[in-house]
Amino acid sequence: SKTKHFKWEVEYMYWSPDCVEHVVMGINGQFPGPTIRAQAGDTVHVELTNKLPTEGVVIHWHGIRQHGTPWADGTASISQCVINPGETFLYRFKVDKAGTYFYHGHYGMQRSAGLYGSLVVDVAEGEKEPFHYEGEFNLLLSDWWHQSVHEQQLGLSSKPFRWPGEPQSLLMNGRGQYNCSLAAQFSNSPSTQCKFKGTEQCAPEILSVQPNKTYRLRLASTTALASLNLAIGNHKMVVVEADGNYVQPFAVEDMDIYSGESYSVLLTTDQDPSLNYWVSISVRGRKPQTPQGLTMLHYQHHPKTSLIPTSPPPVAPLWNNYTHSKLFTNKILAFMGTPQPPITTHRRIALLNTQNYIDGYTKWAINNLSLVLPATPYLGSIKYGLKNAFGQKKPPENFPIYYDVMKPATNQNSSYGNGVYMLGFNTTVDVILQNANALAANTSEIHPWHLHGHDFWVLGYGEGRFSDQKENNLNLRNPPLRNTAVIFPFGWTALRFVADNPGVWAFHCHIEPHLHMGMGVVFAEGVHLVGKVPDEALTCGLTGKMFMSDNNKP
Ligand code: C2O
Ligand code: CU
Repeated sequence: SKTKHFKWEVEYMYWSPDCVEHVVMGINGQFPGPTIRAQAGDTVHVELTNKLPTEGVVIHWHGIRQHGTPWADGTASISQCVINPGETFLYRFKVDKAGTYFYHGHYGMQRSAGLYGSLVVDVAEGEKEPFHYEGEFNLLLSDWWHQSVHEQQLGLSSKPFRWPGEPQSLLMNGRGQYNCSLAAQFSNSPSTQCKFKGTEQCAPEILSVQPNKTYRLRLASTTALASLNLAIGNHKMVVVEADGNYVQPFAVEDMDIYSGESYSVLLTTDQDPSLNYWVSISVRGRKPQTPQGLTMLHYQHHPKTSLIPTSPPPVAPLWNNYTHSKLFTNKILAFMGTPQPPITTHRRIALLNTQNYIDGYTKWAINNLSLVLPATPYLGSIKYGLKNAFGQKKPPENFPIYYDVMKPATNQNSSYGNGVYMLGFNTTVDVILQNANALAANTSEIHPWHLHGHDFWVLGYGEGRFSDQKENNLNLRNPPLRNTAVIFPFGWTALRFVADNPGVWAFHCHIEPHLHMGMGVVFAEGVHLVGKVPDEALTCGLTGKMFMSDNNKP
């Protein structure tokens, strides 16, 4: 195995992700940031310099478990202090498992600002993937707003509450079209046909293929808000990987991808090679106000006259057809040979997801606590026993038995919290994510939950309130291993993981405005076993103070 070195500078730059010029957060002059490509077992070094003039930055390596390097997880207030303007921080971590991953900012709403990129880990030298393909493409999916994230962020924490609304565009590899459409000729609403030379920042990245071959399509969603449905005209896809774990292959015509998820699908180019085909992404779970994101599948065989397909783009399933989504999600099962979960658990934590008010501000809360991150990173404050750094009260393991998840709460007020779920090292933990009615009657949203530092088994999904009887129906035989799992409206999702990674780990809804409004919790395990944390990770808050008084220096 090797060490891969990267030198990155994060900066604001003018860019036209959807043909409209705005400001994005880029890396080394690129948007999306450079792709990291490594082999399982490699060590990745990213020397990150913050060139933003007035704000800190951190980068999280989504899906990388950070065994032995919890300080490199890149979560502000959890694993490290933010990197201040002008400063450089060295991320050093091992990529131990082949798969499709990505990275993104994890401070404020910097992911919405465009701070993200792909991270692909190939199998180790001499190893083989359990499927065959002749070429591959990588599509990083995101959503894009014209309003600056600073304004979005302020609106979310204002009274009255101002919601940023639906995204203006959907992007594939940072490319979308706002003022024109690639499929104008098929659209009912008047729109102009996009004309591209191909060198524009918003020109679609065309997937150029040869007939009768199999391609691997790596898909990852780093959307701030949108849940997506992806389809390729006339072509089936075979799902083979989810979140860096192999799954039982299954064929689909379209698939859902929630924020924080990644997949690999196999695509066989067995259709008429004289035609071109659409690749489309559409919003689901929220009433779409955003046009489909589009690019083309182009058979090289054919002389390049027009790349625009001759038939309309795939029609997305109805945004609120949850039956369709559940059908897809329930097909995802572990590939043979995937480690199975322990058959019993040591602890069960039930987490109720609610939308609330605190002093008239709109928030999300988990068991009635809305997360506000502290000034001192937990990794430092727990390691050095700094009890004033965060709330010492244990956060609740459950929610009231009489709580009706199908109705708005009788008391919609909640409070702020920043306590930690302390997990026994190497114990098995079950988490029941319980969805509920939001503030308004008859509304409940999709929330994709992402766990740092681990993969978990998804033991099952269900409707209404989770109860002990439902426990008997959990899948302990071939549950998929993942790092992100969705909860459907008014439903529950059951997860199991082993707390075997010393460190402090965020567990949160991957919808960025939701996290910003408090939708997350913090887990910690075996922090006494964490080796030397680089000083640079802890130079803020109470750990920063500790460094200043020399005699206390650890
Ligand atoms: Cu990709 Cu904590 O997130
Ligand atoms: Cu959410």
